[in-house]
Amino acid sequence: MTVVALGVPSVHRPQSPAPEEGPLVDTFGRVATDLRVSLTDLCNLRCTYCMPAEGLDWLPSDEKLNPDELIRLLGVAVTRLGITSVRFTGGEPLVVPHLEDVVAATAALRPRPEITLTTNGVGLAKRAAGLKRAGLDRINVSLDTVDPARFAAITRRDRFTEVVAGLRAAKEAGLDPVKVNAVLDPVSGLDDVVSLLRFCLEHGYQLRVIEQMPLDAGHSWERERALSADVILSALRRHFTLTPDPRPRGSAPAQLWQVHDDGHVTGHIGIIASVSDAFCSTCDRSRLTADGQVRNCLFARDETDLRALLRSGADDAALEDAWRAAMWAKAAGHGINDPGFVQPDRPMSAIGG
Ligand code: 5AD
Ligand code: SF4
Repeated sequence: MTVVALGVPSVHRPQSPAPEEGPLVDTFGRVATDLRVSLTDLCNLRCTYCMPAEGLDWLPSDEKLNPDELIRLLGVAVTRLGITSVRFTGGEPLVVPHLEDVVAATAALRPRPEITLTTNGVGLAKRAAGLKRAGLDRINVSLDTVDPARFAAITRRDRFTEVVAGLRAAKEAGLDPVKVNAVLDPVSGLDDVVSLLRFCLEHGYQLRVIEQMPLDAGHSWERERALSADVILSALRRHFTLTPDPRPRGSAPAQLWQVHDDGHVTGHIGIIASVSDAFCSTCDRSRLTADGQVRNCLFARDETDLRALLRSGADDAALEDAWRAAMWAKAAGHGINDPGFVQPDRPMSAIGG
């Protein structure tokens, strides 16, 4: 019997070189069109499943891409590599003062990519309208509970009111849809998700519940404690009537459900089963960290240093080649469920969600 080592990101070494043109492909035929850009590893919250209370050793400023370097790489991604969608993340992208400028520069690229943001919502109330004017299309705001005391316990900061104000401002600014990303607490999460869904239905936000992944800085994730999509769905079904959304899922990580009330569809909920039902086979992502490293997977153990290339005077063709080679070596899957799984060295806050 042949044993195939599926999905351990560190071991995939393609035998052939990457194609020199065309879309950004890997050896499994997947095409990356969605770029996730982490703008900073800094954050003003300390979510327990992400960071320790005291924070982390932040990247020094000179190791982070400056706005000109970042915009140059975005140009390579969009005009040479076929990236059609750019999501800015962190850490917390709103702590970056030049965020609006980067969004505007991205919106000026042709063909214009779709531009989205994943944020914790702190400080969003003041900036949502300006971000929309700069060219932001859609937004995901992380919110794990609508109980202010539990919010403070999960994030170790008392900023619940600001996040709720940020959500409202995003909607008023015309960002559409406004999505709420929730990672559920193993203890209170099955209660939290019911009130979160009610809150989202009431305000017209789309809730997406994400299974917690082993990406915390403390490496303390335990499979047995994390709530799985099945368990979350059963808890919701005790309070809501849910039916599968009939639209094709494509490469979207969320499985979408329609929420019914009195025979009417009153909203939708997405459940992202990143661990229990991985969607790696349809993954269309490439990632760029704040310090200019390409990662072909959240769980990759190798990175490709575009910052060093940029700073050594490489031309766009050389940056393109390096990016293509990085994606060509993408593994079949994240390997979380394999016996030899090793968590990546960087936590989520330094990769970008
Ligand atoms: N597992 C799953 N999602 C996570 N996020 C942060 N850490 C984890 C984790 N360990 C989510 C945040 C945010 C997005 C950037 O990623 O809640 O919504
Ligand atoms: Fe900050 Fe997001 Fe990590 Fe929470 S999950 S500490 S908001 S980077």
